[in-house]
Amino acid sequence: MTQPRIIVAGRIPDAGLDVLRPHGNVWGWKHDEPIEINELYERIAGADAVLTLLTTKIDRSFLEAAGPQLKVVSNVAVGYNNIDVAECRAHGVIATNTPGVLTDATADIAMALILMSTRRLGEGERIVRSGKPWQWGMFMLLGSAIQGRRLGIVGMGAIGQALARRARAFGMSVAYSNRRAVSPEIEAELDAERLDLDELLGTSDVVSINCPYSADTHHLIGPEQFEQMRSSAYLVNTARGPIVDEAALVRALRSGEIAGAGLDVYEHEPQLAPGLADLDNVVLIPHLGSATIETRAAMATLAARNTVAVLSGQPPLTPVT
Ligand code: 8YV
Repeated sequence: MTQPRIIVAGRIPDAGLDVLRPHGNVWGWKHDEPIEINELYERIAGADAVLTLLTTKIDRSFLEAAGPQLKVVSNVAVGYNNIDVAECRAHGVIATNTPGVLTDATADIAMALILMSTRRLGEGERIVRSGKPWQWGMFMLLGSAIQGRRLGIVGMGAIGQALARRARAFGMSVAYSNRRAVSPEIEAELDAERLDLDELLGTSDVVSINCPYSADTHHLIGPEQFEQMRSSAYLVNTARGPIVDEAALVRALRSGEIAGAGLDVYEHEPQLAPGLADLDNVVLIPHLGSATIETRAAMATLAARNTVAVLSGQPPLTPVT
C-alpha cells in the first residue's frame, strides 16, 4: 500500500515532524519565510494531509489544488480564520487547530503588554538604548498602577480566563464580555462580572481583546468604542489585528481619547496603520503570543497528532467546529 503523502506547509519544530514520519511520506518547507503559493499548490497536489500555519490560506482554490485525496488540514495555531471551514466541509476535509497548548504563553504575553503599556516600558527601553544622557528623576516616565483597577476581558475563553487569573494575582478586578456566561464556578473563582460590551468599555481601566476573529468581530473596537472608553484606559490585543480598527486606534491614541495600547497583532500584519509606529503611548511586538520553545513544540505535536488520527481513521483530537 502506498504511504499517505503529508505536506508541512511551513517550518515547524522537529517534535511535530517526528510524530508524522512513521505515518507517511512527509515533505516539509524548511524556511522561515512563507512558501510561495505556486510551489505550495504544486506540493499539495494529491496530498492526503497538510499542516498549515496562520500564513497559509485554506480556501476553495487550495482545496482544488490539493484534490480529492485530501483528508485533513491541521492548522498549527488555535486561531483558524485562515481556513474556510465551510469549504473544507464541502470538500469532505477535516480541519483541526491547536487549542489549550498555547493558553498560558498567550496569557503571559497579554499580561506583559498590560504591564509594558501601563508602566511605559517601551518608552523607557528606547531612552536607555538611545545612548542619550538620562538620570533617575522623581517624575520620570510615571505610569499608572494597575492594583485595584478593572481589567475588562473581551472574549472569556481559555486564554481570557488564564489572563484573568494573572490579573487577579496582580491585584486587578475582572469583568468580561462574552456571548455566553462562563460557569458560575469560574465566575466565583475569578470574582468576574459579566457585562455587555458597552458597559465593559465604559468602566474598565484596561481592555484586553481575547476573542476569535470572524465576520462578527471585524472592527468590534472602532471609533464609537474608543469614545466609550475612559481617557485613562489602555487597550491590549493579543487575538487578531482586524478585531480593532487600527486607523481609529491611531486617532484615539493621538487625541488622548485613550491613554495607551499594547499590540501583538495588527490589522494588516505585518504592515502597521500609518502613524502607529510614531506614537510613544503604544507598545508594539511582532505576534509573539505563542512564541516559546515549549509552546511551539506542543503546537506542532498536537497538529501532527491530529493529522495522524485522521489518517488512521480515528476522530481528530481537536477539530474546529
Ligand atoms: C501562532 C496564533 O503563532 O495560534 C494562534 O492563533 O496566532 C499564534 O499562536 C500562529 O498562528 C502560528 O501559525
